[in-house]
Amino acid sequence: MAYRPMSVSTKVFERRNAVNTWFAGRPVLLAQVDGQIYALDAVCSHVGCALLTEVEGGVAVCPLHGARFDLHTGAMVSEPRVRPEAPCAQEENHVPLRTYPVRVHEGFLEIDMEGSGTVAHG
Ligand code: FES
Repeated sequence: MAYRPMSVSTKVFERRNAVNTWFAGRPVLLAQVDGQIYALDAVCSHVGCALLTEVEGGVAVCPLHGARFDLHTGAMVSEPRVRPEAPCAQEENHVPLRTYPVRVHEGFLEIDMEGSGTVAHG
């Protein structure tokens, strides 16, 4: 594991449950749910919308077509819908988002961009 410090304090979760940031040239969604902190790629695998999103329970919701991603695994758990009656049937667009191990050190987050999975308690 190669954790690197982020300039993100755990205090960011006092007012919201998710925030987008950039780290090592990648957009990263950080979310805290039930005391666990999750990190995953912040670009939707459907057609690339930034996941500037609220987190509902354990899933991140893409604001463009509503695809839902499991925070722990990055898996797409609900397919996108371009129109309410028209789910996207293109399986190649249903790939999971990459997740990253994250931990807390002295009140700030550290992330392992080469690892996978999610670890920290907030
Ligand atoms: S771009 Fe995210 S659901 Fe379409």
